[in-house]
Amino acid sequence: MKGILLAGGHGTRLHPATVAVSKQLLPVYDKPMVYYPLSTLMLAGIRDVLVISTPEALPSFRHLLGDGSQWGIALSYRQQDEPRGLADAFRIGADFLDGSPVMMILGDNVLYGSGLSNQLQRAATVTDGARIFAYPVRDPRRYGVVEVDADGRAVGIEEKPAAPRSNLAVAGLYAYGPDVVDVAADLKPSARGELEITDVNRHYLEVGTLEVEVMGRGVAWLDAGTHESLLDASAFVHSVQARQGLMIACPEEIAYRQGFIDRADLAALGERLAPNAYRDYVLALAASS
Ligand code: DAU
Repeated sequence: MKGILLAGGHGTRLHPATVAVSKQLLPVYDKPMVYYPLSTLMLAGIRDVLVISTPEALPSFRHLLGDGSQWGIALSYRQQDEPRGLADAFRIGADFLDGSPVMMILGDNVLYGSGLSNQLQRAATVTDGARIFAYPVRDPRRYGVVEVDADGRAVGIEEKPAAPRSNLAVAGLYAYGPDVVDVAADLKPSARGELEITDVNRHYLEVGTLEVEVMGRGVAWLDAGTHESLLDASAFVHSVQARQGLMIACPEEIAYRQGFIDRADLAALGERLAPNAYRDYVLALAASS
């Protein structure tokens, strides 16, 4: 399975903080936001990832992430000229996918917690149909909302409903078979003029192949798309890291634990980092037994 990391958009909700810097490059506590969704794809075992962003921001993403080889993965880059909607990613990424199933994650989605790696690795085995991730939230109105029956089967999905029929928000993480490229190619823009991911998911619901993976209480899903949620995400990462001494979304660590790089690679990566707590963490990991 290949990965798409969608990190475009104007970020206008965060202006003026995002006039000169892409939202997905802003720090979530001690790392650029994009490290978190990239880590999620890596935890799923995905090693071939397309990063999509705006023409202005793409050089900064390249500068930050490179070709991925330092983490034992392959990163490629494609621009989205205008934010035409989340499903546009499958039009832009059609050549890259080249018939492969795909896991897409939004660049402002932070996921962390117990049992998540297993759920991700299961989703990475999807070869057809769709699997989406749902999460109970207090106010679902600002998300895609999925309704499931008593057996956990999806029975309805809506984008930002005024009167939500469930409290299950759809997270910005989706796994599809290769036909998602055709589904996206056939989509018509919505009333707000966007190619909606919710319309893609509704297609799979209608043909009976939409699976919903509900994330449990032990998982934190934070979208860092508003000033408040960005602050909450930073505070969350800070408190967990300070308490445990373990980092959330350190790509060097995940690459090592996933076997994408070996201990010598990890040590060499650590040596090249700027002298600070992040480097100390990576070097200590490389030295541990
Ligand atoms: O975060 C989960 C939610 O993400 C889902 O529950 C919704 O169903 C889904 O539509 C989406 O809602 P948002 O309101 O967060 O979508 P937004 O338009 O803000 O786009 C999400 C991210 O994707 C944002 O960081 C910018 C980026 N983006 C957006 C568009 C429309 C792109 O890179 N390109 C685009 O064309």
